[in-house]
Amino acid sequence: MSRPAKSIHGQWTSRWAFILAATGSAVGLGNIWKFPYITGENGGGAFVLVYLACIAAIGVPAMMAEIMLGRRGRQNPIYTMRTLAKEEKASPYWKYLGWSGVVAGVLILSYYSVIAGQAMAYVFRSFSGVFEGVTPDGAQSIYATLANDPERLITWHTLFMIVTMGVVAQGVKNGLERSLKFLMPALVVILLMLVAYATNTGTYFTQSLHFLFNPDFSKLTGQAILSAMGHAFFTLSLGMGAIMIYGSYLPDKTSIAKATLTISAADTMIALLAGMAIFPLVFANDLATNAGPGLIFQTLPIAFGHMAGGAFFGGLFFVLLVFAAWSSSISLIEPAVTWLVENKKISRIRACVVMGVGTWFLGLLTVFSFNFGKTWTIFGKTMFDLLDYLTANIMLPLGGLFIAIFAGWIMKQSSSEQELAIKSPIFYHTWRILIRYITPAAIIIVFLEVIGLLA
Ligand code: PHE
Repeated sequence: MSRPAKSIHGQWTSRWAFILAATGSAVGLGNIWKFPYITGENGGGAFVLVYLACIAAIGVPAMMAEIMLGRRGRQNPIYTMRTLAKEEKASPYWKYLGWSGVVAGVLILSYYSVIAGQAMAYVFRSFSGVFEGVTPDGAQSIYATLANDPERLITWHTLFMIVTMGVVAQGVKNGLERSLKFLMPALVVILLMLVAYATNTGTYFTQSLHFLFNPDFSKLTGQAILSAMGHAFFTLSLGMGAIMIYGSYLPDKTSIAKATLTISAADTMIALLAGMAIFPLVFANDLATNAGPGLIFQTLPIAFGHMAGGAFFGGLFFVLLVFAAWSSSISLIEPAVTWLVENKKISRIRACVVMGVGTWFLGLLTVFSFNFGKTWTIFGKTMFDLLDYLTANIMLPLGGLFIAIFAGWIMKQSSSEQELAIKSPIFYHTWRILIRYITPAAIIIVFLEVIGLLA
């Protein structure tokens, strides 16, 4: 059976390079910043359970599908979808799936960069000892001072955009592959240290395990289920072409199923560890679990402020958080940049400038939504909330739905069988059933539930 021609696209140096890059994309602010605060907002255990179910039943099969499409198309997501649609004699409109991904990536990066900028600011606050002996009120007011100052937020946002675009301009492989090899393990070690610190809080630690793992289904609303599903896509970087484009650099022989399991297990573990580090502090210091986007910035400094060597470890933690965000941002903008390069035939550097400047401007909406633009709301949501809701809760799950439909229904069985090359027929057929029926049905049901048709 003939395979589509290879493009000018590069390839990862090994299977591990891909796993590392995809894990780098998956592990980011979503795990450490967003997971704890949306868990807090949605009441804990039941939300966590739905999130874990979404990872297993929707996330894993969808990630396999997305990597598979990427490797078969071997171009930016728009061209990949166009080529694959042609190969399967399907409608050329499938290319709009690639488009929605490119747009979602830009929208997400616009606010992601502002939050990553806050993490950068915290590197300096921490190393300089600002948090030593800090009280919960003190930590809250340090965060408020930063969030209320648009100029400072813009400066950090600008810096973060520059470092992101700087790496993308050089091509993902050179800079990133090497540094991630020690950054990701270092992040895990620091996170484990924080969890160990949190166990000192005794009953509060038990209370937070209870909060995280003991489901109280009365707290589960339709919106919470949508957020859990949206977050499963967000945290695994699915539904917008980031994993597709990383898959497009994947060597032919690599097992997509094994890589997917490794990436999703690592990602889930890091999110749960972050929860276990943060909630004991929230309970021990009588903070609100639903503090929103500022949660980690108001809790972790308290831990660092009372720990031996806390200024150093705190600084290190935020450095690692910035790196985790960095490796995710690169994958957010990679589809858009590669599309510009492959479509407009301009240099990678130029494409980075165009996309970087555009995304930077869009990021101002998020900057202002933390201070004087707090009152600019649509449907009761600030600009930041709106961007987050639109991308994570709508665009990514919809992208995932169409990826599942394409991989399960449009693509011939022989094509997916050949591309996934799973040795055990049982595993292959399980995947096929999940991607044809379970994944699309789950996404549609959650949407209908939220729209209220089933309520
Ligand atoms: N997965 C990243 C995180 O958890 C965010 C992301 C979403 C990255 C979509 C790429 C694509 O922070």
